[in-house]
Amino acid sequence: MSVKWTEDLSVGVDLIDDQHKMMFEKASELFEAGKERRAQEYIEPLIEFLDEYTKKHFADEEAYMEKINYPEIDTQKRMHAHFINQLAKLKSDFKESGGNILVVLNANKMILNWLVEHIRHTDKKIGEYAKTL
Ligand SMILES: [Fe+2]
Repeated sequence: MSVKWTEDLSVGVDLIDDQHKMMFEKASELFEAGKERRAQEYIEPLIEFLDEYTKKHFADEEAYMEKINYPEIDTQKRMHAHFINQLAKLKSDFKESGGNILVVLNANKMILNWLVEHIRHTDKKIGEYAKTL
């Protein structure tokens, strides 16, 4: 599975695109660390960073949607909240498992799928709407 941001995922809003690229980078880093079976102390900060960065990104994206009066902002907020919960679950599952690498490997598929699907089907509509303004 490709873990790279590709041009077809461009929303057309620079701030959002740049942050999406960073999320792919951070998710890939975590995925690589999992494949390399790195230690819990190494992986935990990666999960932490991805979690913090994702929250920041969602806050910025939601602020942008508010600014342009985007009509589907509530759906977006619900989806974002759901993903934040999944990252929180990953964080606690990983900790409770004592650093079981399978937790990371399974979650990575979920994370990358979510990112690709969410950007492709939901975030791209923000850019399409912005173009009509
Ligand atoms: Fe979004």
